[in-house]
Amino acid sequence: MMQETTLPLTELARTDVRFHLHSQTNLRAHQQQGPLVIEHGSGIYVTDEHGRDYIEGMSGLWCAGLGFSNPRLVEAAQRQMAVLPYYHTFNHRVPNVVAQLAERIASLVPFEQPKIFFACSGSEANDSMIKLAWAYHRARGKGSKRKVIAHQKGFHGSTVMGASLSGLPNMHAAFGLPLENSVLHVQCPHFYRYGIEGESETQFTERLLRELEARIEAEGADTIAAFISEPVMGAGGVIVPPSGYFAGVQALLKKHDILFLADEIICGFGRTGRWFGHQTLGFAPDMMACAKSLSSGYQPISCVMVAGNVYQAIEEQSQQLGGFGHGFTYSGHPVAAAVALETLTIYQEMHLPQHTEELGHLLHQRLEPLLAHPLIGELRGIGLVAGLELVADKTTRASFPAHIGIGAQVERAAREQGLIVRNMGDSIALAPPFIITADEIAELVARLTRALDVVALANGLSL
Ligand SMILES: Cc1ncc(COP(=O)(O)O)c(C=O)c1O
Repeated sequence: MMQETTLPLTELARTDVRFHLHSQTNLRAHQQQGPLVIEHGSGIYVTDEHGRDYIEGMSGLWCAGLGFSNPRLVEAAQRQMAVLPYYHTFNHRVPNVVAQLAERIASLVPFEQPKIFFACSGSEANDSMIKLAWAYHRARGKGSKRKVIAHQKGFHGSTVMGASLSGLPNMHAAFGLPLENSVLHVQCPHFYRYGIEGESETQFTERLLRELEARIEAEGADTIAAFISEPVMGAGGVIVPPSGYFAGVQALLKKHDILFLADEIICGFGRTGRWFGHQTLGFAPDMMACAKSLSSGYQPISCVMVAGNVYQAIEEQSQQLGGFGHGFTYSGHPVAAAVALETLTIYQEMHLPQHTEELGHLLHQRLEPLLAHPLIGELRGIGLVAGLELVADKTTRASFPAHIGIGAQVERAAREQGLIVRNMGDSIALAPPFIITADEIAELVARLTRALDVVALANGLSL
């Protein structure tokens, strides 16, 4: 019998629009099954209402680096609750713990004289970066620089600007987004999918850079404020741009006086095997936004790190205007800050970047044999994030017909095997907690392999 879902519409939209982007089959399947109700978590596992354990292969929404039961984070929240459960960061005030967190973050950021702005979500952080970029250009007498360049398939959040920046049609269709004349979407730097026949990866990169410059010139650099990108594009399907791509982008942006904004909401704080994804991918942004791993997802907190020279220009303008008119009631919430500070302490104790780099090698090594699986066309990712692309034909790279929802089939089959993964269309994403062990990685890959086998057989393929 069909079970009625009790999930509110907003939750369905969030689940399905963001992570099952190309298939209505997913929405119907979820409605039929009802939501997966999670009761508790322990280590890398979560347990549902029926007592079934799952390896959380996605750290929730790419968040819970320290797993689901870290007692030190619980204690940090309890302690802060007792000392100062709320204060704000307006009118030149700041909770002590927030100042400490800002100092700690600044010590990790490879910017000169960084300044840190706090918010509660990734979307708010990205919106804030855009406003800061606008303020920066206006302060320098370049108020016409307004538009933002972003990637097709990029994901930057669900607020009006976050969704506008995102290059995912399902984020736009229902809402009449992107905001008019605000965002220029450029080609997704995914060689496997968008390289043309006979083109090498280097030629692909050169073509994209030529196209980017032509677009900047056609629009007029004096109308463009910023370029935003995730170092590794998460919700678009775990896409790692070719080496040299970002360095080329950086040179073009410098030439045209356009700010480089890194959306490090997934990559920031260790996911790619360095503290920040831009270090792994080889570029130097003017600002970056982080969230998720900042508190291991235990508290809603995000931040924007701003390079000193950008901050300076904005500060001078703020003096003239009598203040900087931006911020949120819960910006720099002390309980969230206390949890984030403890999270960063634990990351430093576990030598996080090296740790995720080593475990990432192991994860990718274990996944590599899946390239021989009849369903798998490409394995991608770096550090503790991986994407597997499901294809109908490995030679032509042809996708399965959308209506069979092959990605959703694998996601469901994995769940049957006790593993939570995410399907974005026909890409399967993995971003396990940083605390995963070598044995647990082996178990995760074993469960995924069984799920792929089940789906291959169900679709008439032989193993
Ligand atoms: C790269 C990226 N940017 C922005 C966001 C939006 O973050 P939030 O959902 O906290 O607003 C996300 C969320 O998944 C993300 O992955």
